[in-house]
Amino acid sequence: MARRPHRFSLFAQPLDRAAFVAYFLGAVVPLAALAWVVRRWAWPALQGSEGAWSVLGVLVSIAVLSLVSFLALRRTAKLALARLDRENQRLQALLRAARALSASTSDQEILRQAVATAATVSGAHAAFHLVRQGEEAWQWGEATSAGERPARESLRTTVQEAAEQALESLAPAIRGGAGGDGGGGGLAVAIPCAAADGRPGALAVWHDEARPFDPGAVPVLSTLAAFATVALRKAEHHATERNFYAHATNLLVSALDAHLAHQTDHSRRVAQVSNQIGRRLGLSEARLERLHFAALLHDIGMLRVDRRKVADLEAVREHPALGAQMLEPIRVWEDLAPLVRHHHEWFDGSGYPHGLAGSRIPLESRIIAVAETWDALTAEQSYQRPVGEAEALERIEAASGVQFDPEVVRAFRAVRAEQGAP
Ligand SMILES: [Fe+2]
Repeated sequence: MARRPHRFSLFAQPLDRAAFVAYFLGAVVPLAALAWVVRRWAWPALQGSEGAWSVLGVLVSIAVLSLVSFLALRRTAKLALARLDRENQRLQALLRAARALSASTSDQEILRQAVATAATVSGAHAAFHLVRQGEEAWQWGEATSAGERPARESLRTTVQEAAEQALESLAPAIRGGAGGDGGGGGLAVAIPCAAADGRPGALAVWHDEARPFDPGAVPVLSTLAAFATVALRKAEHHATERNFYAHATNLLVSALDAHLAHQTDHSRRVAQVSNQIGRRLGLSEARLERLHFAALLHDIGMLRVDRRKVADLEAVREHPALGAQMLEPIRVWEDLAPLVRHHHEWFDGSGYPHGLAGSRIPLESRIIAVAETWDALTAEQSYQRPVGEAEALERIEAASGVQFDPEVVRAFRAVRAEQGAP
């Protein structure tokens, strides 16, 4: 289909063309019309008199003044547009940084992103994050490559003074270089930005003489520092949560080991094998982490099974559902509950508690099923007499497609081969 040509609109044209069209219609055409009227009606009467030269002078003056006004206006518009463009680019960089900062849970990554964005939005030679170390000293943290040692030695004093001033006033601070010694002829800008552990700190940029600082960048730098501060708090909270998560899991696993004295460290070994299979299957880091904790807690329901009944098959069949019920009310563990609930389902649908089959069983549960059976068959401390690794592998492969997912069995076979199994 042929494209319809654009209708001409003055406002749809690039700046230069629009300005020239406006100038032509608003100044050149009226001036030409005026000149024609003068030439046609007034000139014959004025010819030879002094008034003729006056009229001519006025016409020429109008033409020159309108041209000068046009050029000045065009330059002003161009500068304004360039400024808008710069602001727009800064805002885009800030938005990209906000997205990256909110997604990151590593304080080092957050600070690296913050200094890189600070250098971009400010157009600086280098950017840094500094943390106050005691009364006088500063600890220099993340920096853009141009700000790495020893390049930063020449501007250290000026940047630290700006950071000092920013912390005192709790506001952006700008400090010029001393010239010749510390900061050369450049300029440092610092914005308060505390470290992840709450120590006072500052986000700073350095502009050398070749890159003058635009004060319009200060609000953007301040917003960036605020984003980084929030992201650092979130990362700290996440680290605390993970610490609790790991330690609480360890406590439960230890309690389970004490409860089931015949299979010490079963959960940790199952987690290790599950991790190897999961990596082989190409699971993401987030899924591998979920798999790790689900494998550690897969038999946690056994804590609810009376110690005197751990050999009673009917009682033991309850443990996947009991484990899931224990995890469901705990927010940080609730997404592990289905993985624990289904780790005794069989691939052909003849397992328990729900008789799920194939891909309706969560992949993590299918992985744990293989890892758990491997450990039960080979571990010295198990509820049954251990068999050799070759026989255990044979039994697992024989149950492929019946009890186990063939794809998971193949991945486990590959893991064993990598570990030197025949
Ligand atoms: Fe189990």
